[in-house]
Amino acid sequence: MINRKKQVVFLMVATFILSFSGCGFNSDTSNNEETTIEMAEEFTEESTEATTENTTEETTEKTTEEITEATTEEVTEEVTEENTVDSTEDNTEETEEDDKWCLILVNQYNPVPDDYEIKLTDLSNGKQVDSRIYPKLQAMFDDARSYGMDLFVREGYRTREDQQSIMDSRVEAYEAEGCTEDEAIAYAKQYVAVPGTSEHELGISVDINANNDVSDDDTVYNWLDENAYKYGFIKRYPENKIDITGINNEPWHYRYVGEKAAQEMKELDLCLEEYLVYLSENE
Ligand code: DAL
Ligand code: ZN
Repeated sequence: MINRKKQVVFLMVATFILSFSGCGFNSDTSNNEETTIEMAEEFTEESTEATTENTTEETTEKTTEEITEATTEEVTEEVTEENTVDSTEDNTEETEEDDKWCLILVNQYNPVPDDYEIKLTDLSNGKQVDSRIYPKLQAMFDDARSYGMDLFVREGYRTREDQQSIMDSRVEAYEAEGCTEDEAIAYAKQYVAVPGTSEHELGISVDINANNDVSDDDTVYNWLDENAYKYGFIKRYPENKIDITGINNEPWHYRYVGEKAAQEMKELDLCLEEYLVYLSENE
């Protein structure tokens, strides 16, 4: 668990806005973080090369064994509908002591801890999430569906390698549009966290998309924006907090923080970085 005081120190300096010009690429606001999977050499902020060695067969398969930093344990639950869970077990009753796991801060200044351990539950579409958020996610989906929305988890848990592949693909796409490598990396980082700093590597964040045969994106995003807090989820990268999160508006990316925190963040209009400061000042 990251020391909250240490987080707060980082947060106080985390006030920057990326501003770019030059290659003329229209920043992609689509929800498609995951594009073609191509392996490239390890990306670092200092890296000036994004090689395109194509090892697709090796990287398209999600292999929890291969994760370098986090240790994972997989739960194999039977699911009968897409992204649904039959279990009525709810392990997310929160106490003061128990809620720390879901308030962990991972961002550009706070990487996933080396010893982070994850117990994963499979969704029926092959995606995975931290088992602790599974019942709440299911409850939220059940309610959204009861209002006629057709939605699905496009992305859940990612290995470090998954995140690397997504970053590499995004950088390559920007370069293909005429960006220099530095510009491409800068643009990519507006939507894709540097590997090792993505909440998806925690397994407690999900990208939720609409099935556009039935539901339009805005309807689903608006419902989530208004209701996700009831299930302990927050829209992690809102439009009005870009200067703090460092990530552009992502109406599809929801992060579990627990119901109490989600409700307070909603009421006070605080992003997670701000909320942790708020907690430290009100403890
Ligand atoms: N899209 C979010 C920032 C991620 O890559 O984790
Ligand atoms: Zn996401």
